[in-house]
Amino acid sequence: MTVQTLPIRRPDDWHLHLRDADLLRAVLPASARQFGRAIVMPNLKPPVTTAEAAMAYRECILGVLPPGSEFTPLMTCYLCDTTDPADIRAGFDAGAFVAAKLYPAGATTHSEYGVTSIDRIAGVLAVMQDIGMPLLIHGESTDPAVDVFDREAVFLHATLRPLLARYPRLKVVLEHITTAEAADFVMRDPSGRLAATITPQHLMFNRNAMFAGGIRPHHYCLPVLKRERHRLALRHAATSGSPAFFLGTDSAPHDTGAKESACGCAGIFSAPVALQAYVTVFDEEQALDRFEAFASDNGARFYGMPPNQQTITLHRSPTHVSGQIDLPDGRRIRPFLFGETLPWTLAWPDDDLDRIAS
Ligand code: DOR
Ligand code: ZN
Repeated sequence: MTVQTLPIRRPDDWHLHLRDADLLRAVLPASARQFGRAIVMPNLKPPVTTAEAAMAYRECILGVLPPGSEFTPLMTCYLCDTTDPADIRAGFDAGAFVAAKLYPAGATTHSEYGVTSIDRIAGVLAVMQDIGMPLLIHGESTDPAVDVFDREAVFLHATLRPLLARYPRLKVVLEHITTAEAADFVMRDPSGRLAATITPQHLMFNRNAMFAGGIRPHHYCLPVLKRERHRLALRHAATSGSPAFFLGTDSAPHDTGAKESACGCAGIFSAPVALQAYVTVFDEEQALDRFEAFASDNGARFYGMPPNQQTITLHRSPTHVSGQIDLPDGRRIRPFLFGETLPWTLAWPDDDLDRIAS
């Protein structure tokens, strides 16, 4: 029998860009409605590199949450060549951040202060291994000679494998994986200390989507969409039941002017429709029974956090994606799948189910 309603433990988003100021205020309600907690990326301008900055950023987020929301932002530290291991330890002990983010310098948006070589952060990684603080990795080679579509696969062997060997107890999340090679790499690691997040766009689209009838800047993100065989491998990994894979949207809002430009920004604003998109994928893969583990259980277990207690319900009822967000200064944010219709709807216990069903 076709499943019509899917109640699940409230999910978390283990990889999210919330930005700051007006943009934060505009995009936060979408994530707060969908998720219980989120790992908040630190690539602001300037980046969040200290415990003080992380605590201040958390206060900003809490200060603009919709009234009554119980959404919990989980803060991260942006690693630089100069990050002090003692600050990482103190910030983690104080609860200022729960993880640290490794951006190879130049790999992506606002990564220019990132790490230029793993050797530079050897002391930081040793401390993180010691205290059980997860390292979140943007896994792409920054070697300009490497083809943009091969950057993730090259990173696995050139950087990640030696890093894991050097720090055998370090907890690592390979963020937003995009290739069969990365899925396989994570799947084969028996230790339980290596995991990966997967975005909705990489489950739904291959690289043709960026060029369908013309250039499609709203399908551009980093790591970039890959070939169909990679998309299929990611769908297999996400729905496999392996606890090493969990939900991380990488929702990354940029205004339409910054996207639709001669040098458009990487990033897809998926927060408003993330769960509807993910559940559609699980439905297509006939794996609805594995959705809760991917969305709500695996990430919390990996991070050593209790699962959420609330329940949300997904309904087999169409969502038309129509809402663009207008900022006070006239800029506009367009959500992932704008203008399209997804077969699932998200309801909260206090939503009017009759209205949603009609
Ligand atoms: O597409 C992306 N956008 N990838 C990233 O790694 C960063 C993000 C952003 O901050 O816009
Ligand atoms: Zn990201």
